Amino acid sequence: MIDVNDIRHQFPTLHQEVNGHPLVYLDNGATTHKPQVVIDAISHYYEKLNSNIHRGVHFLSQQATDAYEASRETIRQHLNAQHLHEIIFTKGNTEAINLVANGFRQILQEGDEVLVSAMEHHSNIVPWQMACQSSSATLKVIPMDEMGVLDMDSYKNLLSDKTKVVAVNHISNALGTINPVKQMIQWAHEVGAAVLIDGAQAGPHCSIDVQDLDADFYCISGHKVYGPTGIGALYGKEEWLKKLPPYQGGGEMIATVSFDKTTYADLPHKFEAGTPNIAGGIALKTAIDWINQIGLDNIVSYEKELVDYATEELSKIEGIRFIGQAQEKAGVISFIVGDIHPYDMGMILDKLGVAVRTGHHCAQPVMDQFCIPGTVRASFAVYNTKEDVNRLVEGVIKAQTMLS
Ligand code: ALA
Repeated sequence: MIDVNDIRHQFPTLHQEVNGHPLVYLDNGATTHKPQVVIDAISHYYEKLNSNIHRGVHFLSQQATDAYEASRETIRQHLNAQHLHEIIFTKGNTEAINLVANGFRQILQEGDEVLVSAMEHHSNIVPWQMACQSSSATLKVIPMDEMGVLDMDSYKNLLSDKTKVVAVNHISNALGTINPVKQMIQWAHEVGAAVLIDGAQAGPHCSIDVQDLDADFYCISGHKVYGPTGIGALYGKEEWLKKLPPYQGGGEMIATVSFDKTTYADLPHKFEAGTPNIAGGIALKTAIDWINQIGLDNIVSYEKELVDYATEELSKIEGIRFIGQAQEKAGVISFIVGDIHPYDMGMILDKLGVAVRTGHHCAQPVMDQFCIPGTVRASFAVYNTKEDVNRLVEGVIKAQTMLS
């Protein structure tokens, strides 16, 4: 059971007025707010532990290293990875996908194919386009239907022995669709392709088991799971991480360096050049612990209730069109109202203290398919309430009156 009042008390940013109204924050798909324990974990690092990790023999460096590595273990458990060294710290999903796609530049060859889906975030399109360009491989797109559901027959038809990589999101940031990634991974493996799952939106909204999914790569971003910005984690199967070349060169990722030859560090450090976001890494553990304390199952069922309520209430608005109506949805409601530009709607909602995201949500191909410039997107977190939904609905109705 969720005690939403207790949860809300833990989030200082929620308790403020915006444009003279109590803040209603429905832009959690972009980033969630942080509970006080996460903010405290960041402060604690800078106040008590500040030092570089993996380098010093001194007390503070040891303490910071232990805290950072404890976070890696928490992430391993959270994703149910088999090995600790299969967890790579990143800046977030964009860096994680670039890390993998960059590695595949050296593996892909002319005639090979990479599949992405029609509902990807730009960060799961552009790095693969770049990898295909430099290797002369071909990028192909798994289509989706008008409900925002991937076409599984087309996907099966696209898969062949030419397919080397399938890169697809677990939950769409623009539509909220939950993709059947376990099945997709199984089919991809039947043709020998590796699969990367972009779990940016899944992280806060569903439990993830990379072994059960049999994912080759799976990435999450800290700032979507109540953690800091600038930190995230990439899971990669050991065999793949060994095969891929390092992403960046520098300190920490080496075993030996001479002017003639450099040898690389073992996993996971091979992919972790330079001083990382240490405070972020440590606080990401705190965020995951916080989620687990509430219980992901509790979060999922509470958020489903909220999304269902919001869908029902928004449906009553004349002229509303939902973009993304999959049966399996989480966290996100995207919509447009009549011919009101989403940006205008967003500006009025902001004046009423309601924060939503408007625009293409870094998923321009999705907007192109629906022939719209963008959507208004309300995205939910465990601290949202039905009252937040009511404020959103009132705001949309007010904006409609003003703009029609
Ligand atoms: N990818 C983030 C979003 O969907 C920024 O808003």
